[in-house]
Amino acid sequence: MSPTAFPAAETATAPAPAVDPGPELDGGDFTLPEGGLDDDRRLRALDAVDEYLTRKRKHLVGYQATQDMQGTALDLARFMPNNINNLGDPFQSGGYKPNTKVVERAVLDYYAKLWHAERPHDPADPESYWGYMLSMGSTEGNMYALWNARDYLSGKALIQPPTAPFDAVRYVKADPDRRNPNAHHPVAFYSEDTHYSFAKAVAVLGVETFHAVGLEKYADECPLVDPVTGLRTWPTEVPSRPGPSGLSWDGPGEIDVDALAVLVEFFAAKGHPVFVNLNLGSTFKGAHDDVRAVCERLLPIFERHGLVQREVVYGSCPQTGRPLVDVRRGFWIHVDGALGAGYAPFLRLAAEDPEGYGWTPEAELPEFDFGCGCPPPDTARWTWSPRSR
Ligand SMILES: Cc1ncc(COP(=O)(O)O)c(C=O)c1O
Repeated sequence: MSPTAFPAAETATAPAPAVDPGPELDGGDFTLPEGGLDDDRRLRALDAVDEYLTRKRKHLVGYQATQDMQGTALDLARFMPNNINNLGDPFQSGGYKPNTKVVERAVLDYYAKLWHAERPHDPADPESYWGYMLSMGSTEGNMYALWNARDYLSGKALIQPPTAPFDAVRYVKADPDRRNPNAHHPVAFYSEDTHYSFAKAVAVLGVETFHAVGLEKYADECPLVDPVTGLRTWPTEVPSRPGPSGLSWDGPGEIDVDALAVLVEFFAAKGHPVFVNLNLGSTFKGAHDDVRAVCERLLPIFERHGLVQREVVYGSCPQTGRPLVDVRRGFWIHVDGALGAGYAPFLRLAAEDPEGYGWTPEAELPEFDFGCGCPPPDTARWTWSPRSR
């Protein structure tokens, strides 16, 4: 609804009285004695939690999670007696039968269609989508993507076809590139508006950020000037666009594409593969990075530095002894779509029918699907997968 749709007189209502938030939960009610809680205390504890959550739900001003769970809760409660576990690949039935993988696949396919990913999933077609429903949340989705990106960009072969019975999935390291010592040393870029879980994922997976690599290897060569100090010090994250103050705190929350391009150019010129995380719905400002504009801006940089197609040698074929060579990209663009990727396509669909939906967008709409960005290389042996939530 447009904010201009209300007549001015109706908007000038008296402020609502403040609501007493009530007490917080008392930790003493939940202290577990050695023998556990007896039935009375356990019921009292559950009642206290119930009262507290109901009260908080009613007065929550906002957070990026729905509190309207009633219908869903009643629908789904009947499945509680089952120990459902969709373990493993959703596209393989598996031996644990109390699963709902058929439902999971239907949801995945719905989003693959919405985001214009190549579908249906086909194990024989590495360009077709793959994905799974996260059990944890976006932290897990980002970690999964980052893990794949790290291995891909550092030249590992993900899966060797089994050569003998019981031969497990093996990770194979790339042979060193004698002409470029940085060829398998990826560098991660993400903006200062990126969710803090991303920095944790980077640390857990041992992926190095441009800040860490810059400090360690190129301490005096930072191509950006800090707007506050005027010094060329490596920022910890890619700056976001500045606001009226000239700094980013009052800016829109979008990544500063100029700054990103300068940083990426610097590391690409040093021979590093590049991992870029973009946000579609940043946590605190709900900002959308312009995925298409970033891809269009970075593609010439990747072309200039041989990152669109590069050969990675990762050992030799056990049968023929010939080198195993992949032609891969030297870059990976990830979109953390935790808050926006789910609804961005619907905004665009609604905008196509302004009369039907009674809504005309007041700003340019965010774009998110697998059609925007760069084409995959011809001979990639890697799956391109929807990894956002
Ligand atoms: C943009 C963004 N990415 C990642 C996360 C982490 O998601 P989760 O808490 O579901 O793991 C959040 C959580 O709010 C987020 O807003």
